[in-house]
Amino acid sequence: MERLQKVIANSGYCSRRKAEELIVQGKVKVNNVLVTELGTKVSGNDIITVEGKALTKEDKEYILLYKPRGVVTTTSDDKKRKTVLDLIDTDKRLYPVGRLDYDTTGVLILTNDGELTNLLIHPKNNVDKVYIAKIKGILSGLEIKRLEKGIIIDGFKTSPCKVKVKKVDKKNNTSLVMVTIHEGKNHQVKNMFLAVGHEVIKLKREKIAFLDLKGLKPGEYRYLTIKEVKKLYSLDNKNA
Ligand code: URA
Repeated sequence: MERLQKVIANSGYCSRRKAEELIVQGKVKVNNVLVTELGTKVSGNDIITVEGKALTKEDKEYILLYKPRGVVTTTSDDKKRKTVLDLIDTDKRLYPVGRLDYDTTGVLILTNDGELTNLLIHPKNNVDKVYIAKIKGILSGLEIKRLEKGIIIDGFKTSPCKVKVKKVDKKNNTSLVMVTIHEGKNHQVKNMFLAVGHEVIKLKREKIAFLDLKGLKPGEYRYLTIKEVKKLYSLDNKNA
């Protein structure tokens, strides 16, 4: 027996959080009976319908996209802006693992595998997300220490992370900084720098775990290999 929201997410219908919303909103039935309890457990024999459609098991698909600037990381946008899914040719119901801002570029994984999505986004699994930020100004040693130790933004403290200054442009008063974090709160990297007084001018995610952008141009994507998917699964509870 497994929790209903997990079964829905693992089927590839949507993320676990979205599945919870659908249950609470009364959009899920089990054996034709409406279920709004989040803890409900179901078995493989139960027939689950979500928004009137029977849940089926889709083949899993895993895509690594080099997200370009000017694209939203959602499956649909009410302002009719281009979404990351518009860049991908698939008949599967994929959704992005975590979010990159409209103006952020870099590694984005899209999949219909809810279990892997959870593994990659849960901070407890310590999966490295490596960003390169171009910031205004030059970081002091103290600012680097504050960022690395964890800093309060919007009432929560960021986990310890790695910060490495790659380049300083004294003439233009900007720096290139590499930041490795395990979390993915909204605008986290931009807000971390703002918290120590530096605005992010450009942001790129260079890596998630061992996956980087090699061989891809902005807007291009490739399928992950079975070996890569297995390797991602092995990150569970390990340091990535
Ligand atoms: N942190 C941000 O501020 N923006 C992103 O897009 C990703 C991480």
